[in-house]
Amino acid sequence: MLKRTHNCSQLRLDDVGKKVALAGWVHSYRDHGNLVFIDLRDREGLTQIVFDPETQPEMHKLAKTARCEWVIAAEGVVEPRSEGMENPKLATGEIEVAVERLEILNTSKTPPFEIDSADRTGEELRLENRYIDLRRPEMQHKLHTRHRVTMIVRDYFDKLGFWEIETPMLAKSTPEGARDFLVPSRLMRNCFYALPQSPQLFKQILMVSSVDKYFQIVRCFRDEDPRADRQAEFTQIDVEMSFVNSDDVIAVHSNMVARVWKQILDIDVSAPIRRMSYNEAMADYGTDRPDLRFDMKLKDVSDLAGQSTFKVFASALENGGIVKGLCAPGGEKYSRSDIEKTLTGFVGDYGAKGLAWCKVKAEGDVLSLLGGCAKFFGPDLQQQLIKRFEAKNDDLLLFVADDETAANKALAPLRCRLARDLKLYDKGRFEFVWVVDFPLFEWNEDEKRYDSLHHPFTSPVEEDLGKLDTDPAHIRSQAYDIVVNGSEIGGGSIRIHNPKVQQKVFDLLNISREQAQQRFGFFLKALTYGAPPHGGIAFGLDRMIMLLTGTDNIRDVIAFPKTQRGQCLLTDAPSEVDQKQLDELNLRAQRHSHVIDQRVEERQP
Ligand code: AMO
Repeated sequence: MLKRTHNCSQLRLDDVGKKVALAGWVHSYRDHGNLVFIDLRDREGLTQIVFDPETQPEMHKLAKTARCEWVIAAEGVVEPRSEGMENPKLATGEIEVAVERLEILNTSKTPPFEIDSADRTGEELRLENRYIDLRRPEMQHKLHTRHRVTMIVRDYFDKLGFWEIETPMLAKSTPEGARDFLVPSRLMRNCFYALPQSPQLFKQILMVSSVDKYFQIVRCFRDEDPRADRQAEFTQIDVEMSFVNSDDVIAVHSNMVARVWKQILDIDVSAPIRRMSYNEAMADYGTDRPDLRFDMKLKDVSDLAGQSTFKVFASALENGGIVKGLCAPGGEKYSRSDIEKTLTGFVGDYGAKGLAWCKVKAEGDVLSLLGGCAKFFGPDLQQQLIKRFEAKNDDLLLFVADDETAANKALAPLRCRLARDLKLYDKGRFEFVWVVDFPLFEWNEDEKRYDSLHHPFTSPVEEDLGKLDTDPAHIRSQAYDIVVNGSEIGGGSIRIHNPKVQQKVFDLLNISREQAQQRFGFFLKALTYGAPPHGGIAFGLDRMIMLLTGTDNIRDVIAFPKTQRGQCLLTDAPSEVDQKQLDELNLRAQRHSHVIDQRVEERQP
């Protein structure tokens, strides 16, 4: 085989006259009668190679047999392209290689889709043929970016004295809120490992082991339904540090993020990254993942709505609800049917029972409200609403009347959708924020108990420790999430290192002493052997790469992702297994048309 001297993106005018050898895939093929041109592609780019029948008749003949996606190697001399034939879009667009020797290294079946048309190809076909899909330059760029980010991160933590330590994949279930993937044990009959939802307890135990500074780029598994930014199998940049407070963790990771954005996109993340309390985020944006690329804050207008004659508002307020709304700048362009069908349907998907609206119109210098619910507001109330929203001519006011949680649940995504529709932000812009001062618990009405807002190992702020016995609902936690453009890319906390406090938290979560012992006895025990104060964070690597490469689809940044149904279309996993394998594991599969329902056999006496 010819020995490759350059990649397909390397050669320039300076190389003219050099004898070179390239190898790659036939990207495109043009037979101009006398000359044959091939765009040769490798992961770095394209180079045009030319076959001349007069100087190299044998090679020219061989080149005529080549087809798209065949694998070839070519040796020849770099020449400048003739005038007018340069391609300024290509890094190698000023040269071509006049081939003297061609080797066909492999043929290829006609691919199920063309590399250049993959954007127009259904995702299913692309996932089934992922090896071809991944040849696309956009996909190679994403894979490469991912590699570069992990290298930057490893180097960053290494220089700060962090050790990368692997924690088990075959683990005991840790309660992060999602369902576990279970792995049956062959040697311990009827017992199961759980694939880790995160290395949370192991990394805390490493702090008890005096490791001091730990990180790991680690696969995590959560058996939840995949979404555009969620996979059952995903990767975290997982970190834990001893003898630190929230500010220390935030500082180290603000710098990490700044370094990644600088090195990958040459973007300066302005320091310090701003912080916002959970309460402020919920009040102004209706979510703890605020997208700060645009303003459009939500406003509670219950006081004004209560003075209107609109029954819908009055009845929501009577039931202890609120009226909250937003002002879409330039929203005048939405027609009545856009609002009453499309936008109302949109908030309906998030549980809203309706969407009230009115438009802002100027007559001379005076603004007033028109259409929709405007008629229920007298002139003075209208002026107060306009003032509250700082509304301008041609803006659209939208309101949801419901309990506060429901109103936020509908308005937060509506705010993002309107901003997208109305093009209120530039695509290349990034707005970072640390959301802090979360409540430690949220009340679970269905189960009549508290849930952790983060996880049960999160420490309360010290001044609130006393409230564990008296007022759990108002305890603030030492937790922090980092949010970029409305996407939560990381979250963590200072942990509880006192076994008594940990036990109290379990009590409030209604985890009995017995359950706590059974599930985390090993961890509670470790805490009694000199656990240092410690805290940490985990970043979602996939989500970071999504932002850095500008995609909304998490599958684009994972080499071999799963579909909405959790399938790998390339390998056809999950799939049925042999009876012998099941027997070895003491499992019985019940077959209901394609679905395997795994049941553990009765425990042996
Ligand atoms: P958390 O559950 O918030 O925290 O996860 C940390 C970050 O991981 C990313 N992430 C996901 N990415 C893709 N698909 C998923 N299914 C998925 N789930 C989470 C998010 C999230 O911010 N042990 C704690 C961290 C800690 O306290 O140190 C934890 O796992 O970007």
